[in-house]
Amino acid sequence: MNRMPGPPQHQENLNLTLAQRSNLWAPTARGYHAWRAGSLRLLGARGLTLAREADLMTALCRPGPGQRWLDAGTSSGFYAGVLARAGAQVLAADLSAPMLQEAGRRQRGLGIEWRQLNLERSGLPAAGFDGVTVGATLNETHDPARLLSELARLLRPGGQLWLMYLRRTGGPLQAALERAALGGLTFPDPAWVARALPGLRLTHGLNTGAVRFERYEVERSAKGSSAAPGAATRTL
Ligand SMILES: C[S@@+](CC[C@H](N)C(=O)[O-])C[C@H]1O[C@@H](n2cnc3c(N)ncnc32)[C@H](O)[C@@H]1O
Repeated sequence: MNRMPGPPQHQENLNLTLAQRSNLWAPTARGYHAWRAGSLRLLGARGLTLAREADLMTALCRPGPGQRWLDAGTSSGFYAGVLARAGAQVLAADLSAPMLQEAGRRQRGLGIEWRQLNLERSGLPAAGFDGVTVGATLNETHDPARLLSELARLLRPGGQLWLMYLRRTGGPLQAALERAALGGLTFPDPAWVARALPGLRLTHGLNTGAVRFERYEVERSAKGSSAAPGAATRTL
């Protein structure tokens, strides 16, 4: 496994959400892939398999040789593997060492670089990536606005940001899971996400059940977030 230690970082353990802390446990890492393969369907995204999700991302983002991508909060390495198989050079980062170990085992031989980092303050150089994938890390991180701002900083002008997250649908279950003692999760509203990404333009937004997919592109010059004409939300 091509595993690089990250720069020294404050682990800020006291600031981690319960969901983040649960991902530091080896049994969570071992069971994560099975959960990931079925959980979106349980959340109302009927017919959404991992293969279909991979096809959607690759069709809209077209990762390929010569591009450098970051998979932010890689867990078992699903997006990292898809990107690497498409020929991209991939850095896959996660807070959790057990997750990185599990990912390295699952996605062996693809030349992916694995790194333990808190992506709310990565210490990585600005504008170093052509693309960033974020599969549900937004729901779990301590400060989603800080995560989005940091990921935007890492993208070059014209770079792409692919987001998959559980959007705010309201209701008692989401309210319970947002409580610190029950997970400290965040279920962002897509309009809030757009406001948290000044300088990026939403090109695609798709809902399937509570699951939201978005593709953003970094404006090459003007600052200020805006939805592109025709970027209205579609339902898969
Ligand atoms: C829902 S899982 C991600 C699943 C994965 N992206 C996928 O699509 O299969 C969230 C992951 O993000 C990691 N994580 C949460 N907050 C993070 C942060 N601030 N920096 C880096 N990793 C983080 C967790 O350790 C966990 O492995």
